[in-house]
Amino acid sequence: MSATGDPIRRLTVADIGRLHADGERLAMLTAYDYPTARILDDAGIPMLLVGDSLGQVLLGYDSTVRVTMAEMLHHTAAVARGTARALVIGDMPFLSYSNVEEAIENAGRFLREAGATAVKIEGGVRSARTVEALVRAGIPVMGHIGWTPQSQHGLGGKVRVQGKSRDAARHLLADAIAIQEAGAFAIVLELVPEQLAAVITSRLRIPTIGIGAGAGCSGQVQVVTDLLGLGTFSPRHARRYADLQTTIAEAARAYAEDVRNGTFPGPAETVRMDDSTLDEALGRSAEDRAATSTADGLLAGIPLDRDL
Ligand code: KIV
Repeated sequence: MSATGDPIRRLTVADIGRLHADGERLAMLTAYDYPTARILDDAGIPMLLVGDSLGQVLLGYDSTVRVTMAEMLHHTAAVARGTARALVIGDMPFLSYSNVEEAIENAGRFLREAGATAVKIEGGVRSARTVEALVRAGIPVMGHIGWTPQSQHGLGGKVRVQGKSRDAARHLLADAIAIQEAGAFAIVLELVPEQLAAVITSRLRIPTIGIGAGAGCSGQVQVVTDLLGLGTFSPRHARRYADLQTTIAEAARAYAEDVRNGTFPGPAETVRMDDSTLDEALGRSAEDRAATSTADGLLAGIPLDRDL
């Protein structure tokens, strides 16, 4: 039950559409593991994206193209287990949706095996046919245009803002419309100039979720490690709301110091047993001490105090 007495239930893409229609700005975060997902869910974050950014921020890869379906399913399942309310979106990894058949098969695994409610795929006009097929198969889809990390090699390798020229801006608008018309319930705009992102947002019925795309989007998404101060590098568009790197390092140093000086564990972290039971177990009772250390005095080969 929620605090208002309503049964807790998972948000659907229809709920997201309603929130958007009501003018609510949507806060999405990435999540990759069970404990963090639980905290974010309890905090009321309505959409959690298990982004393939996990390759870099969690697994230490140098790019998202190394992330596999198995890794994505593993982490998506953990996030789904940790949440009761949030809409969980699984990010389809590089080359997992190269053709429609593969896309349906792999997207289906996110829902069936990992417990996601929706998937995200990158690309505009080029991905529209895939989005349409997934939606027709009953799989809700979030689009992703602008800077699309899986195409980093095709986009010149260097992370850069997309849509700054006249032609690029027109292409991006066409991409957004194509993805909406294919049936996506929302679309991520990554690294898009704020004015263009605002125009795209105003031309769409579905919500735009911006990252490095200004305040004119219908919602925002941040990589959770950037938000929490756990990243090794913080992009310009990220805002740090906590410094967990310092908190974790301080906790680890304090713990190591307590172990070294013998103050951890203390009475509060320690379990004791009845001393007389231990005396009995070790043959320390007066009766036991009187016994000699003969073969029949040994208990199944366990050396008792009286035998030492
Ligand atoms: O993988 C990811 O985290 C993403 C977000 C940045 C939108 O795609």
